[in-house]
Amino acid sequence: MKNAKIVLGVSASIAAYKAVELLRLLVVEGAEVRVVMSANAGKFIAPLTFEALSGHPVYHAQFDAPNSAEMEHIRVAEKADLLVVAPATASMLGKMAHGLADDALSSLHLAFKGPVLIAPAMNEGMWWHPAVQGNIATLKSRGVKFVDPEPGELACGVIGPGRLADISVIREKIKSYFCQRDDLIGIRFLITAGPTHEAIDPVRYLSNPSSGKMGYALAEQVKARGGEVVLISGPTYLKPPEGVDFKPCKRADEMNDLVQEHLENCDVLVMSAAVGDFATETLAKEKIKKQGDAGLVLKLVPTKDILLDVAKRNLDKLVVGFAAESQNLLESALEKLKKKNLDLIVANDISASGIGFQSDFNQVTIIDREENMENLPLKPKREIADLLLDRILSRLKHS
Ligand SMILES: Cc1cc2nc3c(=O)[nH]c(=O)nc-3n(C[C@H](O)[C@H](O)[C@H](O)COP(=O)(O)O)c2cc1C
Repeated sequence: MKNAKIVLGVSASIAAYKAVELLRLLVVEGAEVRVVMSANAGKFIAPLTFEALSGHPVYHAQFDAPNSAEMEHIRVAEKADLLVVAPATASMLGKMAHGLADDALSSLHLAFKGPVLIAPAMNEGMWWHPAVQGNIATLKSRGVKFVDPEPGELACGVIGPGRLADISVIREKIKSYFCQRDDLIGIRFLITAGPTHEAIDPVRYLSNPSSGKMGYALAEQVKARGGEVVLISGPTYLKPPEGVDFKPCKRADEMNDLVQEHLENCDVLVMSAAVGDFATETLAKEKIKKQGDAGLVLKLVPTKDILLDVAKRNLDKLVVGFAAESQNLLESALEKLKKKNLDLIVANDISASGIGFQSDFNQVTIIDREENMENLPLKPKREIADLLLDRILSRLKHS
């Protein structure tokens, strides 16, 4: 990001302190960052911290600052390549959506003509309020991009979406503005993501903790690099990346049907979904009632093996599988690669803490058909997605 000129807008969220780390990372990457704060943001963090780290004065007071008469917000806006608002409060989203300009940040936003990226952070109730969702829709309709908040424990004690996205995820999204590639133009990807839900009765199901983040990161990076994506996803909290052809599903057999339907029109299939291996033999029509101390015996039957069905069709596609294992990782991954006739397999150890399911990070080994193994260090899933896409592209070029 050498010479990238970024304005970092900070508003009055409890997550404002995280903007300090974001600023530090951007400066380390070589970006020139100017920080602009809303009038209330100073109640959470002092401008001096941002001044010291950015090496520039912080624009936070509209009227009583020494440079007010020079209309500093206009100067800063003219020079920037990208405006990042992180964290963005519900109130700031409202001001931006409706064109209000009553503090330094909202004024700069109106004066700014370039791309805008927003990372909101707020209480879960605020996030789902129709007014906030309406403001987000308005901003999106103007081309503003978002890094959605994550589900998790919020400062107010509630669990739900609203927590500022991980700083590394925001940094990667910012980086993608400055390192745009279009090397996947003309390549059609079919990507599966997330868990599957195998119903037991009308209210219960068998599933796993897959968040879908890896598959969604892949879909997003394919789009960012000019490719086409059909994204088949089991139930997740995530919003489908813009521009993908999104096909939601629940059960493994539904996912299989969708994969088989779209397979012919793709060049690359990436099966990153954590498809359930078992489903109940029968689906109870009514909610199963507890019968005193008596246990419940469920007979499980294997679900469709999507990759085996794909292999049987023997279509000329590049196929990538994922192996999430808790033991004998590499042996199991190699066995799966051969059995399912894959070109590449991405193996990750789900017993290791801080990576894999739910996490924004992963540490994987990529194994190819020739049994070459490449260990990647711990990285954000978006970076892993890009590295995997590089490997896929290189195989496509040599096939
Ligand atoms: C302790 C505390 C934490 C807050 N955290 C948030 C938050 O994370 N997100 C949010 O939208 N508002 C939050 N608010 C409310 C905003 O600070 C308030 O709406 C403020 O007017 C927003 O100002 P600004 O958007 O102009 O910066 C919080 C308020 C307090 C007192």
